[in-house]
Order: sequence, then C-alpha cells, then structure tokens
Amino acid sequence: MNDTANNSIFVGYESTRRGWLATVGAGGAVALSTSLPVAAAQEQPPLSFAVVSDTHLGRQDKMTAQNQWKTVAEELAETDVKFVLHLGDIVDAGREAQYAPYKEIRDSIGKPVHEIPGNHDPAEAFAKKIRREVDTTVDHGWLTVVLMNNSRRTSHDGFFEEAQLDWLAKVCNEAADRGRKILICCHVPVVKNGPPDRAWYVKPEHGQKRFYEIVTAHKEDTIAVFHGHFHNGIRGWDAHAPLHEICFPSVTYNQNRGLEAKGAPGFNPVEFRPGYCLVTLGDGKLAIDYKPTGADVAATKSLATV
Ligand SMILES: [Fe+2]
Repeated sequence: MNDTANNSIFVGYESTRRGWLATVGAGGAVALSTSLPVAAAQEQPPLSFAVVSDTHLGRQDKMTAQNQWKTVAEELAETDVKFVLHLGDIVDAGREAQYAPYKEIRDSIGKPVHEIPGNHDPAEAFAKKIRREVDTTVDHGWLTVVLMNNSRRTSHDGFFEEAQLDWLAKVCNEAADRGRKILICCHVPVVKNGPPDRAWYVKPEHGQKRFYEIVTAHKEDTIAVFHGHFHNGIRGWDAHAPLHEICFPSVTYNQNRGLEAKGAPGFNPVEFRPGYCLVTLGDGKLAIDYKPTGADVAATKSLATV
C-alpha cells in the first residue's frame, strides 16, 4: 500500500489561513466572508501519528532488529494513530533481502506507513522495494508531509542535489498556495552540529544554504524538519526557530551522549531505550511522546508551532 504514497491520502478542508488573510487585506478591514468559514480557516485539528526510525533489519546478522520492529508494529496496530512515518535506515548496511520481512511486518500495522531512505538503504533498492518515486509528498488533513532522500551509502553527512531543492521549492510553494502547513522528512539533520553531537549534517557545500533559504521563505508554513540517523533519543534544535529540527529515536538502539549535561544547544530528553514516538500536531502545538518498546511513555516534549 505504500507504493502509491504520493498524494494518496487527503482528508481535510481547502479553506485556508492564507485565504482568510487575503480576504481581510482586500477589504482593508475585517470583513467576514460568508463563503469562507473563519473558524475552519484558522483551525489545525490535531493529527495523531507515529514516528519510527532506524529499524536496521539484519543488523549483526541477527533477528534482534526484526523482532524489535515486529513488537513495535504490534503496538502501533493497537493505537489510534492515523499514519506512521519511518525516517530511514530501514535495513542495515544495504541488506536488500531484509526489505521483504520489513514490509511484511509493516503491512500488519494496518495504517499507512511513509518511509524515507537512510544511509544504510541503497537508493536503488529503496526505489525498487519501497517506493519508485523516492522524493514525494503525502497529504494528511491540513498537513503536507515532504519525504526526501538526503543520505548516501558512502557518508554519514547529508546531501541535497540542486534538482531536489528545485523540487522542494516547488512543492513548498504549492502547499503554501493551498494554505497547508509543511513537515519535511529527511534522514540526515540539516542543522550544523558538532561535538558532543555527531557532527553529521548537510554541509554548506552540499545544499544546506539553499535548503534554509527555501524553508525561511516558508517560515510561516513550515512546522518542522524530522530526521533519524542519530540514534540519540529525541534530539532537537531550535537554531532556525520557529522551525523545529528533530532527530527521532531508533527502534533498534539509542545512545546517551550526555548532551544536556554537557550543555549542548537544543534539547535531548534523557530517555534512550529502543522505541518510537507518538506525535500529536495541531492548534499551534507539537507534542511528542517517547514510547520505549514494551514500556509506558517515558519522556515528552511539547513545542509551540507556526
Ligand atoms: Fe541508523
């Protein structure tokens, strides 16, 4: 069911905040339009979804990662989330044979799952096994989710091709013109980071500058950029506020790098068990619950959004 993710799901209204503002501006005063329900135009009914990342099926040639993914899938099947985002590193070290068990388990969740590739996922294998059109968008309610590949098998850094950034500018313009909010997903963080962080990110010469130009041009529309890659629990930065830039925990393993104790910028709640996140997004708020597999929610992060 994930082979047709592009705009496969759209539930919501077409009235927009942009449309509302245009109505106000045209009259020079607040003139309520009977054709544009104001309440609906300004609402962001909360969306509930799950974020999983870095399942690394086949890691160390053991069944451990697959079993962890299976347990997470069983838990997700029991939740009322509307969809699931997978932020990359589906399989470990390019193990193409692992996409079959990944998908079999994924399909047991019974909800749409939208993946992006990570640096462990060969781009060709991802296109063949997961989704032919790797860079794509999917709409849920008032939100447009942009799914992009910015990773390579040969590096821990991230990379954007110029054509990808042309495409990103286009899809952001289209979403904004429809009054939609935007959530961008790419495996490797874009934000500059250094020790005690990993220092893996999209370097300026690899598309970082233009990425932020595009996002800044849409700062009223773009809520957040979600990543995997760091295996470091919930790791977030506010260097480009109001944009939120957040790495999500790995289903398979996470490491405590002591970031908060070392005074690293941003946030990193102290919870590092294997797990995933339950997210509620809407009404100006991004609420993230860290759900260790097999345990109760153990850490939360609540952020204001555009
Ligand atoms: Fe990973």
